[in-house]
Amino acid sequence: MVKVKLPRVDWSPVELASRVSRRGAFYNFASGSPDPGLIPISDVKEAVEDVLSEYGSSALSYPGAGGLRELRIEASRYLREYLGVNADWRSIIITSGAQHAIKLLTQLLVRKGTRVYVEDPTFYETLAPFRFQGAKVIGVPITDDGMPTGEVVKGIKEGDIVYTIPNCHNPTGTCMSEDNRRILIEAAEERGFLIIEDDPYTVLSLNAPRPLRAMSSSIIYVGTFSKLLGPGLRIGFVVAPNWLRGSLERLEQHDFSTSTLTQLIVHRLLKGNTVSRVLSRVRGFYEGKLRILVNALDEYMPNSLQFKPTCGFYALIRLGVDAERLLRSAVKAGLTYVPARRFFINGNFPDAARLSIGVIKPERIEDGIKLLSNLIKGMG
Ligand SMILES: Cc1ncc(COP(=O)(O)O)c(C=O)c1O
Repeated sequence: MVKVKLPRVDWSPVELASRVSRRGAFYNFASGSPDPGLIPISDVKEAVEDVLSEYGSSALSYPGAGGLRELRIEASRYLREYLGVNADWRSIIITSGAQHAIKLLTQLLVRKGTRVYVEDPTFYETLAPFRFQGAKVIGVPITDDGMPTGEVVKGIKEGDIVYTIPNCHNPTGTCMSEDNRRILIEAAEERGFLIIEDDPYTVLSLNAPRPLRAMSSSIIYVGTFSKLLGPGLRIGFVVAPNWLRGSLERLEQHDFSTSTLTQLIVHRLLKGNTVSRVLSRVRGFYEGKLRILVNALDEYMPNSLQFKPTCGFYALIRLGVDAERLLRSAVKAGLTYVPARRFFINGNFPDAARLSIGVIKPERIEDGIKLLSNLIKGMG
């Protein structure tokens, strides 16, 4: 009989809600994927063919640690052009999405008891690796101005880590104010704590401020092409300060990531005009869907919205009834969302739900919210 005590690994509420959505949800408020109509399928198809004809079997060989040099150079150009971030290509480490980047950073930087400050609530999927590694996670209640820099932040010390989604926050849709950004960066530089910035959504937005990394090169910046080109490509990256980049690159030897083929495909897409074309359709589009959502919530579920979302995909609401229980009847009615209790550090607020406008068609949003409000009434 094998007797092994395994560490606890939980299913994430995002994974569970995405599974039921994949079975077909007419009103899909759960998925964090980009709008299927905006994924550049024909460009990807062309890029696959070009890459295979040009590179042949070497497109299917093992990747080297750190990522392909040509992709890192293009990623550096992309960061400068679309996000106002100046980063030498050598400081860019390619990863299998932002999620892999967070996991690698956690393995390198977090030991048992390391204090990690996060917005409360925050994205559950990134919280999980911090906890798995033994971090002491400290939630700073978020406001419409993002992570506040008051009393709590004064206690952050050398060796601590701040993990933040300053723009188009997941799950609240808020952006950190200019004052909070400045104070946080100055405090980190003065006291020597680390800031990890997770930034999947700024590039999609018309209104979001520039990333923290545009203000300070000491920020550890995590980016991704998931929301622009498709999450199934699994291409993200870290912009790492000098002291970190060598170790991060070498740590990638442990998992032989990231797929050579998809690195070459994304390289091809970045070199052509795909990104600028996709962005000309995307920028403003998601903000438009978010506005429809907010208006529908105001009309059919007044006072349910907890924060004012300005960009990205998400809004956080309170349903007034248990979110997991309601989800069962919602799924039967063709509607999904993510129960958000576990996005809160202490798991309070069992009636919290994350609504996403990523994949849902704009014309279905209002009807979906009307249906959700009726489902709640049916439970009461
Ligand atoms: C804040 C945040 N971080 C990380 C990720 C994961 O992105 P990727 O697909 O690049 O792993 C997401 C995806 O929803 C996200 O919202």
